[in-house]
Amino acid sequence: MQLKPDNMKNYLQKLIVLFLFASASAFAQIDEETKARNERIRQRWNRSLVDNQNYIFNKDANNLLAQTASSINPGSALCVAMGQGRNALYLAKKGWVVSGFDLADEALAYAQKEAKQNNLSLHTEIASFDTYSYGSSKWDLITWLYGGCLQIEGIVPKLREALVPGGLFVFEFFHRDAGVEMGRSDFGCEENSIKQMFEEAGGFQVLLYEEKEGIADYGMKPNKLIYMVVSKL
Ligand SMILES: C[S@@+](CC[C@H](N)C(=O)[O-])C[C@H]1O[C@@H](n2cnc3c(N)ncnc32)[C@H](O)[C@@H]1O
Repeated sequence: MQLKPDNMKNYLQKLIVLFLFASASAFAQIDEETKARNERIRQRWNRSLVDNQNYIFNKDANNLLAQTASSINPGSALCVAMGQGRNALYLAKKGWVVSGFDLADEALAYAQKEAKQNNLSLHTEIASFDTYSYGSSKWDLITWLYGGCLQIEGIVPKLREALVPGGLFVFEFFHRDAGVEMGRSDFGCEENSIKQMFEEAGGFQVLLYEEKEGIADYGMKPNKLIYMVVSKL
């Protein structure tokens, strides 16, 4: 059957409307899924970091961060997924101008309360990894501590853009072997995966990269961990 030009136009118009409608509902569904995921994260971490007094984590600053920060002059720092602020507060006490974001609003409120009590200032924002505006040549130091394996589309180039030349990025998280030992085979970062992301993106120098046993800040037990410090060239 051959369509007349008028019928063809009609048919195409209907097809376009149908396509736009399908795309709009697909986007709406993704949006709903993201909202639900963020809400689960918000509740889970508010509970663990603020409400649950028995939740075991290191309330002092991360050791790799403390070592790294002590070797450079204070400047501007961004704490990604900063939680209840243990690292952000440590840096602020050492004279850094500190910003941080997280989805856990009560954890951020806790950090702000601690900051006020200690006459410190923190810039905090409720945001997620993928929506936060990391900025351009803005940070002397970015921390990504116990915030997962950087599985966010385009994140490494964003981090490179956000750091000043010579700025440092400090990372620590569980190795995949630790996940497997915990019976969580998809938890923890795969061997070399984090270093590879920075090498493939380019524009960084790897100053430290180790995969070894250590006491994890979360759980406070010996686990295989990944430690990394890179600087932006
Ligand atoms: C294990 S805690 C680590 C907190 C802090 N970095 C520290 O070292 O104490 C993980 C944090 O990541 C945050 N988080 C998880 N998914 C996130 C996301 N998509 N965007 C922003 N923060 C997120 C949680 O709310 C939680 O505060």
